[in-house]
Amino acid sequence: MEYKDVISLLEMPPSANDVAVRGWVRSFRSNRFIAINDGSTIKNVQCVIDFENFDEALIKRITVGSAVEVSGNLVESQGQGQKVEIKVSTVAVLGDANPEEVKLTILSPKRHSLETLREQAHLRIRTNTFGAVMRLRSKLSFAVHEYFQKNGYYYMNTPIITGSDAEGAGEMFRVSTLDPKNPPLSDDGSVDYGEDFFGKESNLTVSGQLAAETYAMGLSKVYTFGPTFRAENSNTSRHLAEFWMIEPEVAFCDLDGNMDLAEDFIKYVINYAITNCGDDLEFLEKRLFDEEKTKPQAERSELSLRDKLDFVVNNNFKRVSYTEAIDILKNSKPNKKKKFKYPIDAWGADLQSEHERFLVEKHFKCPVILFDYPADIKAFYMRLNEDEKTVRAMDVLFPGIGEIVGGSQREERYDVLKQKIADMGIDQKELWWYLELRKFGTAKHSGFGLGFERLVQFVSGMGNIRDVIPYPRSPKNAEF
Ligand code: 4AD
Ligand code: MG
Repeated sequence: MEYKDVISLLEMPPSANDVAVRGWVRSFRSNRFIAINDGSTIKNVQCVIDFENFDEALIKRITVGSAVEVSGNLVESQGQGQKVEIKVSTVAVLGDANPEEVKLTILSPKRHSLETLREQAHLRIRTNTFGAVMRLRSKLSFAVHEYFQKNGYYYMNTPIITGSDAEGAGEMFRVSTLDPKNPPLSDDGSVDYGEDFFGKESNLTVSGQLAAETYAMGLSKVYTFGPTFRAENSNTSRHLAEFWMIEPEVAFCDLDGNMDLAEDFIKYVINYAITNCGDDLEFLEKRLFDEEKTKPQAERSELSLRDKLDFVVNNNFKRVSYTEAIDILKNSKPNKKKKFKYPIDAWGADLQSEHERFLVEKHFKCPVILFDYPADIKAFYMRLNEDEKTVRAMDVLFPGIGEIVGGSQREERYDVLKQKIADMGIDQKELWWYLELRKFGTAKHSGFGLGFERLVQFVSGMGNIRDVIPYPRSPKNAEF
């Protein structure tokens, strides 16, 4: 017999034909109604069993969490909430789940907090919430590829182990095969990485950008979508030590083109989710609504999850220079009333997430693209403006998330870049190849990085980034 996914089975007419399905038991009521979920959809298929006709020992093994295989007639459902159900003719338990032990896990029918689910990350995919989030994540990653492939971009893979610090921020995980207890030492007593596997210091990548730039200078339009690692000690709901980043890089493109690309791309993938993830978004919207009911009125969102997504897709992002933003922030109520943890008193201040969220959520009430930041607070590779104070940087800021995209027009002028690298105290020897790009057919080019988990967070309405990646990595946390 052909096995069907629950998702396709639920679309079939009640033909009374024989069907078969495999999945995990979500509930078994009155010894008669087995709800089976196989992860293909948030919906369960109801299987009605005449327990009187089955061996009692077998019926006892049909417990929450067990893996089962069921066959029977697909008939019109008598119950509410589904069109069809299976009238069971055979059932086999493929994998038992001891009910006593199930009681101690998140598989038990009672509601669990997201924190508890994180402690059992190997089982949490069996819950409605994580099933919905992870299906959404998968669809969104497909949409990312679809957008770029449809628009003439080539997908490239950048190295995961690298010798350079693409952001110049020093937040890297070291990669080494040296014996930490007895490393080879140089004459001055420091560790001799010349003896290490790569013959030099190496680390996990913080961004594929520099390598993507080299390929944009040959393929014109490229993008990466890969894992990225940051050893920043940020225990927040928006930071991971291991996350996935999407980085397009485009030759002959300036900052305006880059902003257009970011906005068009984000709208495309969100729209894809709206169109293709209806059932999961409906569930996640209700989950968010229930979660917000526990908060004080002032902290609740005015829009439902799907209204928020529609709003982003249907409205222009507001483009504001850093200088304008500082004026707005300086004169804002929370700044005057000393409500910001980091008060804004002068041009040049780095923006914290409280400031970004004020601009997006309170002031403009829509996604915002900030551009032309002070050179001093941004990375070495960003193109210097005529004022010699600001760089052609842009950040896309989202409600509830803060920064979702960071990008820039790149410094394509050899001398200016070389000077910048020197001024920032970065070792030029590490970047010889990057500088060389500016010697042979240099051209203006731009790109950005979008943190995939922040996107999934926004679309799913999940409050914590650790709940949108299967196995989150954060400070003091690499279980599973
Ligand atoms: O702003 P960032 O650091 O920019 C870059 O890495 C550039 N090289 C990108 C480029 O121009 N090609 O990071 C880009 C985005 C951020 O806007 C944020 O969405 C995400 O990556 N991000 C993180 N997401 C989760 N956890 C972290 N620790 C993150 N750090 C950055
Ligand atoms: Mg950034």
